[in-house]
Amino acid sequence: MSGRALPIGVFDSGVGGLTVLRALRLALPTEDFIYLGDTARLPYGTKSPATVIRYSLQCAAALVDRDIRCLVVACNTASASALAALRLQYPSLPVIGVIEPGAAAAVAASRTQHIAVIAIEGTIGGGAYQDAIRRLNANARVTPCACSLFVAMAEEGWTSGPIAAAVAQRYLDPIFGVAGAPDTLVLGCTHFPVLAAAIRSVLPPTVQIVDSAATTAAAVLRQLQAAGPMVPETGAAPETGATPVTGAHCAAGRVTWLATDGAARFARVGTTFLGETLHEADIEIVDL
Ligand code: DGL
Repeated sequence: MSGRALPIGVFDSGVGGLTVLRALRLALPTEDFIYLGDTARLPYGTKSPATVIRYSLQCAAALVDRDIRCLVVACNTASASALAALRLQYPSLPVIGVIEPGAAAAVAASRTQHIAVIAIEGTIGGGAYQDAIRRLNANARVTPCACSLFVAMAEEGWTSGPIAAAVAQRYLDPIFGVAGAPDTLVLGCTHFPVLAAAIRSVLPPTVQIVDSAATTAAAVLRQLQAAGPMVPETGAAPETGATPVTGAHCAAGRVTWLATDGAARFARVGTTFLGETLHEADIEIVDL
């Protein structure tokens, strides 16, 4: 490990955060990552805020124990409930969630400042996106919509075709098929980017989609650039269980995969979210 910068720690309740990791790896191809999916305890979306905070602190502790330079909370539920507790627990560690970057990108993208947010029920009910958007523009109008079925569809791999389009239409037509509709849509759940094409297909073409995975990656890039030189030295051999990121040159970063249960399912479902093959043998099962 010597000679390389410390990895970036990323956690989620399960595989959804792999959409964030995918965006991070595109934005930061030379960085090393440790990804932790708390698959034994998902979903977080149905848990109380106190439980999500406890789980998030445990995920963070497992990553901090392995030495990380920055923590990405790649889960909307955890970002909504636990960001403050994580920042309090680790005051010198940059902690970046997915909600603030998504809200900022939506406010920047929207001409009318009428913004729709789709997420799972807990994220919508807690009002985290609505609050984050209104903190940036008190006059913004936010139309929230819980689209919980999208999570199961994403995990089933039903990400395109007539069923995906019909469900997207059922959720989104009441918002976008009316006069005075929002001009921007925030994908406020880590599962939703894999359904982006189906969602796009039922939206008016002028609507902008803000993917909080991509905007979070941009926020992490800015954070690391502000902290100092980013490109690590190269030449260290990959560790066991670390998968080299396929990239254009030999300085590509590596990923260490951790999950709390079900390596086979993590690999199978996660492959869709990550956009490349995950191997069960590369996933270390850890106990928090
Ligand atoms: N990853 C979660 C999120 O973005 C969705 C799945 C869950 O409820 O754990 O909110």
